[in-house]
This record gives sequence, structure tokens and C-alpha cells, in this order.
Amino acid sequence: MNCKLSVNINKIALLRNSRGNNVPNLIQFAKDCESYGADGITVHPRPDERHIKYSDVYELKENVQTELNIEGYPDERFLKMVCEVKPHQCTLVPDAPGALTSDNGWDTIKHQTFLSEIIHRLHEHQIRVSLFINPDKELLDKALLTGSDRIEFYTGPYAHDYSQNKEYAIHTYANAANYCNEIGLGINAGHDLNLDNLKYFKDHINNLLEVSIGHALVKDALYYGIENTIGMYKRLLK
Ligand code: PXP
Repeated sequence: MNCKLSVNINKIALLRNSRGNNVPNLIQFAKDCESYGADGITVHPRPDERHIKYSDVYELKENVQTELNIEGYPDERFLKMVCEVKPHQCTLVPDAPGALTSDNGWDTIKHQTFLSEIIHRLHEHQIRVSLFINPDKELLDKALLTGSDRIEFYTGPYAHDYSQNKEYAIHTYANAANYCNEIGLGINAGHDLNLDNLKYFKDHINNLLEVSIGHALVKDALYYGIENTIGMYKRLLK
């Protein structure tokens, strides 16, 4: 089974917003990513709309032919938008409103009830839910109890440790992935994955369903072009 590549297009919106017009065209970029082989498009609208705007998400829903994944902290505004847009998947992240980027997973022990209620609401709209999480057995047990369909492993620490000691870097994730398979949680992953560390991750995680990649992929596209870059990432996921 091939692992799906969902391209996070936040950085394209950031570039567009820096000039105040519609260049580059975010919707066209998403469609082009799909035509070059992306299996999905991910967006992470933040409260200040510094990159993806809420209005972009509605337009993307009309245009994305593959899977649309919306990430974000589940405040009321976010949830209302997600329930209206009805993406294929919603990935819940515990970010504080002003966070530069997601830098931790959910404490599913502390927030189990809060998450259960939100997941129930999203399920009523037929939206698949994934929880951004660190690879820890106890957190995974509680994630299962929230009713979440999948988890997304926060791979920042993996990426950080990979260059020093890749066996050490993958160890906790591989064990946690086996545990997810045992208890029936689907596995996604994301953050700081790149052309160097992706293949090793994919090869050691049983049943990795999807990775969402933005920052490194857009950086690589500056050198190789977006069509080549998507091809390169896809080959690593075969
Ligand atoms: N997953 C989540 C929850 C994120 O917040 C981000 C960054 O927006 C990513 C994945 C993708 O991370 P990166 O941009 O480092 O590929």
C-alpha cells in the first residue's frame, strides 16, 4: 500500500499575501499539485489568517479533486467553518492562537472529554478526524477513547534526531505505530519531513497512511520545480 502525500500549501498563501494580490494563485497551485501526483491538499488556517484565509478553504473545497485536509485548533470559528466545508479529513492540533507552527501534540489525557465532544460533532458531518499527537502509548490509548479515526504523529522530534542517530530517532515512532495498528488507530504523520528523512520514516512505520508536508517541499520546489519535487517525494513513499 502506498502512503499518500498531502501537500500543505500554507507557504503559497503566505507568498501571495505578502503582495496583496492573487499571485501566486493558490487554487491553481493546489490543482497543479494534484495533476503532478499529490494525493491530497492540506491547509492550516490560523486565527490571524496570515497564510490560508478562511475564504480560501471554501474555494479549495470547490476545486480540490483529491482529499482536502484542514488542520487547526478547534475553536468555535474553526469548527463552524470545517462543518460547513466538510473536508475529507480534519486534523485537530493543540496550537495556541499565536503559535508560529505546531510544536507539540495533544495531551489526550487532560483533554479527552473536550476532544470527544468535538470529534462527535465532526463525525455528525461525516468528516474523518485525526489528532496531532506525540508517539506515546498512554496518549494513544486516550486518543482511541475520544473516537478519533486516526492520529498524526508530530514528527518534529524525529526530524531533529534523525541526522544524529536515525535508529534512535525512529524507535519510539515505530513502537507507537505498531501499537496504533494493534488498537485500530489509522496513522498519519507530519512536521519537518523532507527528502532526507522521509524514506526512512516510511520504511519503519507499519501502515503509514498519509504524510502532510509543506515547508521542505516548497523549499525544494524553488530548486527543482513543483512537478519534479512532487515526483521526488512520491517516489520515496512507494
Ligand atoms: N502537520 C501539522 C499539524 C502542521 O501544523 C504542519 C505545519 O503546518 C505540518 C504537518 C507540516 O509541517 P511542515 O511544514 O514542516 O512540512
